[in-house]
This record gives sequence, C-alpha cells and structure tokens, in this order.
Amino acid sequence: MDTSKFYITTPIYYVNDKPHIGHAYTTILADVLARYHRLIGTPTFFLTGTDEHGQKVQQAADKRGVQPQAHVDETVVRFQELWERLEITNDDFIRTTEPRHKQVVQKILQDLFDRDEIYRADYDGWYCVTCERFFTEKDLADGKCPESGCGRDVERITETNYFFRMSKYQQWLIDHIEANPTFIQPDFRRNETLGFLKKELTDLCISRPKSRLAWGIELPFDSDFVTYVWFDALVNYITAAGYLSDDAAFAKWWPASYHLIGKDILTTHTVYWPTMLKAMGLEMPETIFAHGWWLVGRDKMSKSEGNVVDPMAFAEEYGVDPFRYFLMAEMSLGQDASFTEDAFIRRYNAELANDLGNMLNRVTKLIGSNFGGCIPECGELGEEEQALRDVTLKAARDMVESVGKMRLDLGLAELAGAVREANRYIEKRQPWALAKQGDAAHAELGTVLYTAGEALRIISGMFYPTMPGKMSELRQVLGCAAGDPDFASLSEWGGLESGAAIGEMRSLFPRIQRKKGDAAGAKAPEVAKKAKQNKPAGLALIEFTDFTKVDLRSVTILEAEKVEGADKLLKLQVEVGAETRQVVAGIAAHYAPEDLIGKTAILVANLKPATIRGVESNGMLLAATHKKKLKLVTLDGELPSGAKVG
Ligand code: ME8
Ligand code: MG
Repeated sequence: MDTSKFYITTPIYYVNDKPHIGHAYTTILADVLARYHRLIGTPTFFLTGTDEHGQKVQQAADKRGVQPQAHVDETVVRFQELWERLEITNDDFIRTTEPRHKQVVQKILQDLFDRDEIYRADYDGWYCVTCERFFTEKDLADGKCPESGCGRDVERITETNYFFRMSKYQQWLIDHIEANPTFIQPDFRRNETLGFLKKELTDLCISRPKSRLAWGIELPFDSDFVTYVWFDALVNYITAAGYLSDDAAFAKWWPASYHLIGKDILTTHTVYWPTMLKAMGLEMPETIFAHGWWLVGRDKMSKSEGNVVDPMAFAEEYGVDPFRYFLMAEMSLGQDASFTEDAFIRRYNAELANDLGNMLNRVTKLIGSNFGGCIPECGELGEEEQALRDVTLKAARDMVESVGKMRLDLGLAELAGAVREANRYIEKRQPWALAKQGDAAHAELGTVLYTAGEALRIISGMFYPTMPGKMSELRQVLGCAAGDPDFASLSEWGGLESGAAIGEMRSLFPRIQRKKGDAAGAKAPEVAKKAKQNKPAGLALIEFTDFTKVDLRSVTILEAEKVEGADKLLKLQVEVGAETRQVVAGIAAHYAPEDLIGKTAILVANLKPATIRGVESNGMLLAATHKKKLKLVTLDGELPSGAKVG
C-alpha cells in the first residue's frame, strides 16, 4: 500500500434511514483506522456522508408532504449528530445534493456521453423498487429480486433509457482483480466478485425518466432524465477528494487507500465503480474492504427487519468509548457478528471494568499513598519486570500490525491480554505487602509501581484511537501530556516521567450492575432451570410482546440423516431464506430421513444453539404431538423459505 498518505471512506448512508449499529460500526471502524494513521504520522483524509437522491427519499418526502430537499436537510442531522457524539473525526462530510457534487456528476456524465461510453436505448426488463436496480430475466431469483436479503417482487418495465458500456470492461476488470490480490478484501469477497464476473456483464442502465422519478441529478444531455442513484452516489469518493475542482488535492488523495463497505454493497463497489473509474481514465482505489454484518439473532440488523439497536441510546447508556471498543473488539473483521447487550456487558465488565479500570486504580492508589502522588523512580528491572515489559511492547507492535492487516480485533485482543498480564504482575509482586515493609522495600515498591504504570502508559496509547476520551483521561491520571500520544514513545519502554504528579484517581469504567429482572441477568439460567423442574400445571397468559420474542420461520428441509448412536434423532439441513442451518430434531421414530426432503416446516429460529449428542443444533422444528403420534407443523401452501411465521 502507498504509505505516503491514507485516504479512507465509508459508504454514504441513505439519509432516509435512522442510523443504527451497522452504520455506526463502519464509521467507527473508519475513524479508528484514520486515528491510527494520524498517530503514526501519515497524512490522512477520512470521508463520510449521505446519499440523498432516489426513489425512497422522494416517497418519504411525498408522504410527509414536504419537498425532498427539505426532507433530507432535516434527516441528515441524525447522522451528523451521531458522528459528533461518537467522536468521529471525519475530515469531510459529503451530501450528494450539494452543488459541488452535482457539478462533478454532470461533468462526468457529459464526458462519458461525448465519448460514447454512454448511449441511449430501449430497455425492457425487471426493476426492484427497493434496491433501485434493474435485472434481466436470468438475473432474477425465482422471479424475485436477487439482491442478498431482498427477494421482493420486481416490476416489469419498458422504457427508453441511457446505458453505460460496462460490459466492455468485463475482461479488463477480471484481469485487474486477478493481478491485484488486495484490490478486494477479504479474499472470500474477492472470489465472490470473480464468481459474479463469470456471468456475462450487461451494460448498466444509468438513467431514470423524470416521469417516474424526479429526485436526482439531471442528465446534462437530456433533461427528461435524472441519473441512477448509484451512478451519482459512487462518485462522492472523488468529488470530495477534489476531482475536477481541486487538482492538487485530488493528486494528493486519489486513489483511495480503503473504501470500507458492508458486504451488502459489494457488487456496486467492486463492479460498477471500477468500470466507471476505468471509463473516466482514473486510477483504481487500492482496496475495497467489505466487512460482515451485525446480526440480531440470525438476521441482519436493518431497518426493514425492524430489529435495529439505536447507537445514540446505547452510547448514552454505556458511554461512547466502551461502545466503540465493543464494536471493534467483538467483530472479527470481515465476518458476521451478533450484537447483544449481554455480550457487551460481559466484555465491558471483564476487560474494561475489572482489568483496565482496576489496574489504574491499584497503581494510582498506591502511588498516592506511598509516593506523595508522584511517579516513583524505577530501579533495575528484575525478571518479572522484564517479562511485563516484553509482553507490553509486543502487544503494542501487534496492534500496529493488526491495523495494516485489517484485523483490529486481534490487535485489541493482544492489548487486553497485556492488561491481564499487568494485573497478574501486580498480584505476583504484591505491592501492598511491599508498602507495609516501609523503607526497606520502598525502592522496590517504586520499581513495581513504575513498571505497572509504564505498561499502562503504552497500552493506553495504543488503545487511544479506539477509546480516545477514556484513554486521554487515563493518560492524564498517569501524568502524560494531554492530547494525542506521541507515537514513537509507544514503542519504547521508560517514557513515564518519574516525579510527575499523577492526576486525581477516578473510576474510569464503573462496573455495570445488571438490572433486576433483566432477561440478560446473571441469574437468568438458574431461573430457567427452576422453571423447568417445577412445570406449572397450567400456562400463564403471556403478552403479545412475549410472543414476538420468538422468531418463527418457514424452512425447506434439504437433507436429513440419522444421528449415530441416537435412535430418536435426525440431523437436518434446512434452508432459511439465503441461509442453510443444521437442526437436530427428535423425530426419527416418526419420519424416515428420505421422506423429509423438500418438506416445509416451521423453525424456532432464534433458539440458542445447543449441542445434542455431540451434534450442533441451531433452532428447533415445531411439531404437534398426541399420545405417541408426532406430526411436523407445516404450511398450508407454498411460500419461500425464511418467511416469518406469527
Ligand atoms: O447502501 N451490519 O446505504 P445504507 C454491518 N447509500 N454494517 C451495516 C449493517 C449491518 N447490519 N447495516 C448497514 C447504502 N451497515 C448506499 C451506499 S456508497 C456510495 C452508497 C453499514 O444506508 C454497512 O457499511 O444502506 C453497509 O454497507 C452500509 O451501512 C449500507 O448503508
Ligand atoms: Mg442498505
């Protein structure tokens, strides 16, 4: 990678949506990466923004009876306020309705049209309103929108439109991807795009007749049309970098180091965008990195699923820095991860409250009572001290490396490990016992506290881009200068200043007490066990909201086999929408495996995974029983698998 500068982007989010954890994740990730690069001293440009044109915005504005521009001016604030609250240090915020962007999009369109990269033709095909995308007959999945997670009905459309000659770049794109292994990351996403490119690429419809959709950027060569929202949106990455407006800036920042995206928008970024850039004669971005999804249970967190967690509320309740830390540490970068408050509280209490917070308390308290609140001198390092020094410096190096490898989660885990080591060091060296020995052990006590404090100085500096607010506080308590840490000082032992006054001791990460009656409470499993033992005679009435906690889905049984050594059990592979799941069901006495294939059944999809006779089971099939008979619950007619039941 070009290390002379760092230009990182997030997707520009649909301004219509209320920001949720997914949006917060990509933006925080970009922020943490930008902050690390600034710390290292690399000139950095970090861009985010909003995608403000298109059908959905127009529909929302119509519904409210306001002009689309007024609507987006109101809704954009939700993103801007959230980023401010989450300490996001973007250098620019681009809105696609800004004149600076519209001008660039129009200039590009005119140039491509003049050079016959865009042509006019009649179009006859299928259109998904939600995805705002056209599909040919063979693109469709069972006659529905083929976009992952969509699957909605499509409309047949016949109209005149403008097309970008994307198809002619197909071979070039394949060659580029093959020649540049880091162009699309992680590797399995790169393979996904290469797989997609095995099919013949069609030209891209880049216009919408105003009669159908007026809210967009007008085609400069035909005022009856606006441009397709993606053709407009992708251009933001070069508009903000100064394309056609500030040559010096553009020369400095382009190509982007990273376009960070979620896997939902892989095709637009790894097929449309590169071919558009190629047609414009511009360089390719260095890396398009697609991360995984935050899931709630088994579903993607998304507005359309109605399962979103509000990041603003979450950060208000638990603090901005712990929230940032959790998102970065919990998701193996690239994979899906599931978001639960329970997992958050567990990680917070273990790594932040117990380990890091506790460590700071111990050190500052003992320095306060034994060294008049000033950092002690450090004597010669013994074996234990050297070991802690080595672990700390290694964790710091690993953190830096993890940034380059796009595995922040691993770097953060190393740092958390170093904090644990530091606490262990304190346990071993027993500074409180040394303190009791008075003068005889005073120098040794100083060395121990200096060593522990020094480990904290380095670790907190490395945590700083992830938890800027809390680490800044922590470092000031240790007598470090306010503001960004000096990067070079984080790879060398001994930077803590003896004699410097430590700050006021405080509880940085107060332990989170679980609320009483909280379903995620520590007592929950016990309660559940008891309930099972004393089966109630009759069942209590439940609220409708209790029922809605159960995620029931239609599934198609794809495979079935006996579980060895368990004559009642069958191991099933079932299709739930785009996903395949393994479920163990106690129905072997009632069904032969081969009779089940192709059957529709109902799955309790959000049941916690369990291992039954050594076989993993992800959910439970519903069955009705009477005396010794058992029948699977099934649907009264055809529906695609994954359909909600309830
Ligand atoms: O697609 N988990 O905008 P969008 C992880 N305007 N990340 C998630 C997520 C989840 N559950 N849900 C959303 C658009 N994201 C277009 C982009 S770019 C030129 C135009 C994040 O508001 C993730 O980064 O639907 C995903 O790609 C993005 O939000 C989609 O945001
Ligand atoms: Mg989306």
